[in-house]
Amino acid sequence: MERTLIIIKPDGVQRALVGNVIKRFEARGLRLAGLKLIQIPRALAEEHYAEHKGKGFYEGTVTYMTSAPVVVMVLEGPDAVAASRATMGATNPLNAAPGTIRADFGLNISRNLVHGSDKPETAEREIKLYFQPGELLSYTRAGDGWLKE
Ligand code: TYD
Ligand code: MG
Repeated sequence: MERTLIIIKPDGVQRALVGNVIKRFEARGLRLAGLKLIQIPRALAEEHYAEHKGKGFYEGTVTYMTSAPVVVMVLEGPDAVAASRATMGATNPLNAAPGTIRADFGLNISRNLVHGSDKPETAEREIKLYFQPGELLSYTRAGDGWLKE
């Protein structure tokens, strides 16, 4: 079982797509381990996107990510990182495959609706940025047994 950090970015919240986005991960079988609505403080956004510091889009991304509320969640499941990245689609919605969140709801790389950890190690780091251990729940859903052989 693996965990990943997903953020529904300000555009997703402002465009009232929160339910739509969660629905896709949930319908695929990923299980919510944590969920909250927050406005990201600047220092946290800078830490999250530290790997991109110095790139042309860094400042804009930090300003945008802190500009309005976001929904942060931890999803759990087999290969949760890769599975959720596939459900999100390519970074640029114009290159994302139809049926992915970014393709179906967006057109612009800097307004691509969702963040998802890109590797299991990244997920561990990012989950700790947004959640205290006590905010994450482990449980079994009634339908979980029907998701595997
Ligand atoms: P990146 O980590 O490369 O993409 P992903 O979110 O798919 O892991 O980039 C982080 C975010 O920065 C990306 O979701 C949107 C923004 N961004 C831009 O605005 N312009 C760009 O050219 C790139 C590469 C990213
Ligand atoms: Mg990334």
